[in-house]
Amino acid sequence: MEKIKISPSILSADFSQLSNEIKRLEAAGADMIHVDVMDGHFVPNLTIGPPVIKSLRNHTKLIFDVHLMISPVHKYIQNFADAGADIITFHPEATEDINETINLIKKNKIKVGISLNPKTPIDIIEDYLNKVDLVLIMSVHPGFGGQKFMPEVIKKIKKLSDKKIKQNLNFDIEVDGGINFSNSKLVKDAGANILVSGTTIFKDNNGDIKKNIDALRTE
Ligand code: DX5
Ligand code: ZN
Repeated sequence: MEKIKISPSILSADFSQLSNEIKRLEAAGADMIHVDVMDGHFVPNLTIGPPVIKSLRNHTKLIFDVHLMISPVHKYIQNFADAGADIITFHPEATEDINETINLIKKNKIKVGISLNPKTPIDIIEDYLNKVDLVLIMSVHPGFGGQKFMPEVIKKIKKLSDKKIKQNLNFDIEVDGGINFSNSKLVKDAGANILVSGTTIFKDNNGDIKKNIDALRTE
């Protein structure tokens, strides 16, 4: 099994203390920081944009795993790349031209992720699997933290993992939404190697983020 990485979502962090929260995550052994960007249009919620990412960039060496829930997404790729994103993941429904969006991200020499909402089949990204570094499987409908994990995505993770092995591809499989201690093993066994979590990491075990990160990684 590939090394499991944990990408805590700062959507569940204290936004008034973001740089301290990121430092806490780094000290607690997070592998990367999942930054949920929402525009109130692609999803019914609004969070942060490039200026905040730019201001956080020098406070950590961790990878910024930027999840863009915005549309039209191609207009903003450069802003997020300039702000310090290391991975930019977009939703195929948020662009008219998936290849153009992939190339815009790649030209900035940063990693490309493509995301599948719970009801979106793998087929629509089939042609891009050999062009991306990461596939983000949403296990909740995007827009909010603290939602319930949708178990029907387990079989989608498995199907994607089988394709990855069969086609000898090496994109990461990241799963995002409602990850907790009762579903993390199922998700990893199905083939995910990056787990995103906000609520479980920040709230469980009285907010002991190191304990929660370790438990998601190993249990
Ligand atoms: C939802 C976001 C997720 C979410 C994860 O649209 O993409 O990253 O913040 O938070 P939890 O772990 O609380 O579901
Ligand atoms: Zn996310």
